[in-house]
Amino acid sequence: MSSKLIIALDFPSSVEALEFVSNLSPNDCKLKVGFELFVSAGPEMVRELIKKGFDVFLDLKFHDIPNTVASVCKAAAKLDVWMMNVHASGGSEMMKAAHNALDDLHNPPKLIAVSVLTSMSDEQLQEIGVDALAKDQVRHLARLTKKAGLDGMVCSAQEAILLRELLGNDFLLVTPGIRPKGADMGDQSRVMTPADAVKAGVDYIVVGRPITQSSNPLKVIQEINDEVKSAIL
Ligand code: C5P
Repeated sequence: MSSKLIIALDFPSSVEALEFVSNLSPNDCKLKVGFELFVSAGPEMVRELIKKGFDVFLDLKFHDIPNTVASVCKAAAKLDVWMMNVHASGGSEMMKAAHNALDDLHNPPKLIAVSVLTSMSDEQLQEIGVDALAKDQVRHLARLTKKAGLDGMVCSAQEAILLRELLGNDFLLVTPGIRPKGADMGDQSRVMTPADAVKAGVDYIVVGRPITQSSNPLKVIQEINDEVKSAIL
């Protein structure tokens, strides 16, 4: 079984990222490249990671007019990334355009959507004119995402049980805010352990600092993979 662990490669430069990655095996994890690393190290970094055999989740949360998002998704697919994402709040037309842009590819990347950012409270949603509770807005955007033909969503582990019930098994749930027992919470407030997340129906867990800032990353990776495996059995 391939690993359900996606490591958030949140490093400020390619040197630091590649040094960290040099100890890792693609059998044990996938890698997430987000804004910080992509803006500082660019597509070359992504190509380098893929060349080393890693599945790369390009976490750039595209959100623009449908035509522009379709074009950038095509460009990202040319990098051979394993997964990429868009903002569901860009609407169905935008998501369908992104989906259609990848549809005729031989081995298209998985396309998932971000619903409501977990940093947004109910009050902050009201501030931007969304008159719904965050949890209801997540459900609404999740339905829209599935209808647009996307492969899944980024969601908090707390939302996973509900979304799994709502959308069935054929829909990927990818979840950050994961903390192994005893790990520092950092700035994450609603966290879950790897085992609990998998039991809640999550397909992939995203873990950053508990691994990248550990004095023994390989040990943490091993422990997480073991915990996930026993949770599935
Ligand atoms: O270091 P940590 O495990 O908190 O990293 C989590 C990763 O997931 C970061 O790259 C962060 O940007 C991302 N993320 C998140 N919460 C979301 C969406 C993405 O923490 N709602």
